[in-house]
Amino acid sequence: MPRSGQRPFVLLNLAMTADGKIATADRSITTFGSPRDLAHLYELRATADAILCGARTVEETGATLGNGPDPRGAVRRRRVARGLREFPLRVVVSGSGSLSPNAKIWSTHDAPLIVLTSARAPVRARAALARLGAEVWTSPGREIEFETVLQRLLREHGVKRLLCEGGGQLNAALLQADLVDELNLTLCPLLFGGRTAPSVFDAEGFATLSDATRWTVASERRIGNEMFLVYRRVRAVGKLKG
Ligand SMILES: NC(=O)c1ccc[n+]([C@@H]2O[C@H](COP(=O)([O-])OP(=O)(O)OC[C@H]3O[C@@H](n4cnc5c(N)ncnc54)[C@H](OP(=O)(O)O)[C@@H]3O)[C@@H](O)[C@H]2O)c1
Repeated sequence: MPRSGQRPFVLLNLAMTADGKIATADRSITTFGSPRDLAHLYELRATADAILCGARTVEETGATLGNGPDPRGAVRRRRVARGLREFPLRVVVSGSGSLSPNAKIWSTHDAPLIVLTSARAPVRARAALARLGAEVWTSPGREIEFETVLQRLLREHGVKRLLCEGGGQLNAALLQADLVDELNLTLCPLLFGGRTAPSVFDAEGFATLSDATRWTVASERRIGNEMFLVYRRVRAVGKLKG
């Protein structure tokens, strides 16, 4: 039984350009990593109890947050051998409850789908999401209380390892609340530019160096022209002076 206050280990995975963008400003290019990068995403999914994603990413990329190609069921067997369910639990964030009924995620039913909303979401919208088949969790205030939600995912669904796949707005809420333990960044050899292009951490951000969170490089691998970087959050060390 998890102790009260415990939450899952949260890892974030993103492909980014050399200038930190995760899509072009007009959002016409949202997928730009190599096939190896996609394989890396599926490898990470195969280690996670649940996948977390923002509504816009789900709508724009057609992500269904499943196991990926698995014609002979090898991924499912590997998951079970690791003590995981055959398919990861799917969690989509839509504070206003406006996740589109046309999103591709509604077309697959391998695992339950939880939609996180806030009190900003009209009752009507929440009911529509429930009719489409989602379990709807509503935070009481105007903002989603991610810490509470993470604790609930562990308590009610046994989620010990949660993979967040962006986008930038969702990442920002988690990073600003210091709820991310590991960053998996694939550095792609591209520059997109664009002041409004989605980036890894799309928030006002930290104002001073002493507020900035600190990370250590846990591993780095070059495969072809891409760098696969893993950073771990450093929590015990004192903050830098601003
Ligand atoms: N390169 C990569 O690896 C990668 C990965 C992921 C995404 N992307 C790209 O990034 C872009 C999407 O990023 P994005 O930042 O625009 O969107 P996002 O974070 O995917 O989704 C934003 C939406 O999610 C909900 N949401 C997110 N955080 C919330 C919070 N703290 N509280 C309440 N609701 C929240 C809201 O939905 P409602 O409006 O319904 O309230 C919001 O409009 C897409 O172009 C996608 O392709 C790239």
